[in-house]
Amino acid sequence: MTRTVITYGTFDMFHIGHLNLLRRLSELGDRLVVAVSTDEFNAGKGKRTLIPFEQRAEIVRNIRYVDEVIPESSWDQKVVDVQRYQVNTFAMGDDWAGEFDFLSAYCEVVYLPRTEGVSTTELKRSLSRFCNVSREDILRAFDVIEQLRKDFG
Ligand code: CTP
Repeated sequence: MTRTVITYGTFDMFHIGHLNLLRRLSELGDRLVVAVSTDEFNAGKGKRTLIPFEQRAEIVRNIRYVDEVIPESSWDQKVVDVQRYQVNTFAMGDDWAGEFDFLSAYCEVVYLPRTEGVSTTELKRSLSRFCNVSREDILRAFDVIEQLRKDFG
């Protein structure tokens, strides 16, 4: 019998933590369904994504561990999804530990440890720091590179 696993997430600025999670989820069963949150659903949570839904969904759909992508457009679709896709295991990263235990009435509920040291929030912070480097700092960096080139080049 096919064992189906389902997970939910935004997967904005797809990173190694996402890939590790999807690989480990795929090892829990035979078929992995990923519900990718829509831009409208995120907006309702006050969350703005950098990458639009269609692109996030397309990236996740093309990860080899993923069999099917569906949209996540509301908090309360999970019970319906679990039944519709005949889900055996609902799984999320452990930043959600305990939040979805009510689904254990319908299927197994699992929380997997997150990959340390990477998150979309952190990537967004790095990006904004990167973009805020002043013109003077960039010119100073060029001077340092030029000096190093003269000294060691
Ligand atoms: N995830 C993970 N390890 C990470 C980051 C995310 O296992 N380092 C998991 C989350 O626990 C979740 C899924 O990946 O089950 C999708 O997470 P998402 O919220 O899209 O990614 P984050 O990087 O956590 O994004 P944010 O910082 O916006 O919360």
